[in-house]
Amino acid sequence: MSSKTKSQYICQNCGYISPRWIGKCPECENWNTFIEEIIHTDEKKKDKRIDLKASSTEIHTIRSIESKRELRIETKLEEFDRVLGGGLVSGSVVLIGGDPGIGKSTLMLQIAENLSDKKFLYVTGEESPVQIKMRADRLNFNRDNFFILPETDLDIVQAIIYKNNPDIVVIDSIQTTYISQLESTPGTISQLRESTALLINIAKSTGTPILIVGHITKDGTIAGPKVLEHMVDVVLHFEGERTHNYRILRSIKNRFGSTNEIGIFEMTENGLREVKNPSEVFLSQRNYGASGCVISSAIEGTRPILIEVQALVTETSYGFPQRTTMGIDAKKLNIIIAVLEKKLGLYLNKHDIFLNIAGGVKISEPSIDLAIAVSIFSSFRDIPIDSETVILGELGLAGEVRTISNIERRINEAEKLGFKRIIIPRNNLKNLQSKKRKIEIIGVEKLKETVSLLI
Ligand code: TYD
Ligand code: MG
Repeated sequence: MSSKTKSQYICQNCGYISPRWIGKCPECENWNTFIEEIIHTDEKKKDKRIDLKASSTEIHTIRSIESKRELRIETKLEEFDRVLGGGLVSGSVVLIGGDPGIGKSTLMLQIAENLSDKKFLYVTGEESPVQIKMRADRLNFNRDNFFILPETDLDIVQAIIYKNNPDIVVIDSIQTTYISQLESTPGTISQLRESTALLINIAKSTGTPILIVGHITKDGTIAGPKVLEHMVDVVLHFEGERTHNYRILRSIKNRFGSTNEIGIFEMTENGLREVKNPSEVFLSQRNYGASGCVISSAIEGTRPILIEVQALVTETSYGFPQRTTMGIDAKKLNIIIAVLEKKLGLYLNKHDIFLNIAGGVKISEPSIDLAIAVSIFSSFRDIPIDSETVILGELGLAGEVRTISNIERRINEAEKLGFKRIIIPRNNLKNLQSKKRKIEIIGVEKLKETVSLLI
C-alpha cells in the first residue's frame, strides 16, 4: 500500500490549516497557536470509487419516516437537567468545557451519584483512581455499579464499552485521550477531532450517552474544544469566577433543547449544591442605603434573576480616568457614560469608574442599562437609591428608556422577593396584565425623568 506522510500546521484554537508555520492565525487572530501535525495520506483510499449499483443507500420522503420521541435519562440534578432540556438524550454526546479547577469532575461524580440505578463508566486520563476515590469520599459518594477506567487509548476504551455495555460514559478529559494510529500527541487538534469522532460513533451505535470533559484555556495554547463544538450534540460551559463560589452551567449549543438555559450551583466543602432561587443568592449580601448600589433584573435562560449593580465613582489621581468593569462589557459602560454626559450634564472625564455585578455573574442583557446609569449617578453624587426599588430598562443613545422583554416575569420575581417599587420602560406598561399587585409599577420614558424620580 502506498502511503505518503506530510506535515501541516494547525491552529490549536480554531483548526485553521496552513502549510507553513505562522505566528498569528488569520482565522481566529490568536498568536502562537500553530503546531505541526503529521498527516498520512493513503493513496489507495483516495482512488476509492463508490459502486453506485451495489450501494444500498436510498433517499426517503419525510412522511415515510416514523417520528420517535427521544429517550431521556433524567439525572434528577434539576439544574443540570434543565440546561440539557430535560435530561440526557440516549446516544447523545455532550461536551462540558470549562477552566481547569472549576468543578467539572465534581459535577460528573455528582451526576453519577444521582443516577445510582445506572451502570456508569468513568474514563479518567487526568487523575488516578485513588484521587477519584478521595473526591468521592469528600462528596459522600456511595453507590454501586460505578466503574473507573484509567485509560487514555481510545481503542481500548471502545473495546471496554462494547464489552461492558455501560448506561452512561464520562471521558475526563478529551485532552488526555488519543488514538494510537495518529502520530500527533494527545491534545492536538487532530487527536481531539478524531477522538471525538470515534466517541460520537460509539454513542450513536450503542445508544449510550457520552459526557466529554474538555478544558478551555484563555490564551489558547492548549487546544480549546472550539473545533469540537460543531461535532457534538450539546455544548455546555461550566463557568464562574474562581474567587466566588457560584458556578454557572450554560448551554452554548443544544440539538435537543434551548440554548438560553442556565443552571446555577454553589461549590461547597462537600460538592456542588444546586441553587434553585438565584435571586436570593445574588442579593444575599445587599447593601442597604449605600450609594452606587441599584437592584435590577436579568433573564438567564427562562428565569429572571435579580442582581445588584454596584458603581464606584472616584476622582482620578492620575491623568487618565480608569474604567473598570466586572460582569458587564466595558463598551457598554463607555456608551452609558457618554449618555450620562450628554443628557444629564454629568462630566465624568476626571473620575475613575468601577462597575461590578455583585456575586460574580456576567450579564449581557440590555435590560440593566438604566440601572447602570442610575448607579453611576448615585455614586457620583453620593446619594443612595431606595433599596426597595428595582430598576429596569434598556438605555438608548438619546437617553430614552427602551422596551425590554419578559416584563411580566421580572415584575413577579421582584414582587415575590418583597420589593415595593419597580421602575420599567413606559412602553412596557401597555402589555401588562391588569391584576392587583403588591408592588408599585412606575413607567419611565427618559433617563432624566428616572433620575429625578429617584433623587
Ligand atoms: P474539580 O472538579 O476537580 O475541577 P475540574 O475537574 O473542573 O478541574 O474541582 C476543583 C475544585 O473544586 C478544587 O479546587 C477543589 C474544589 N472542591 C470543593 O471546593 N469542594 C468539593 O467538595 C470538591 C470535590 C472540590
Ligand atoms: Mg477534572
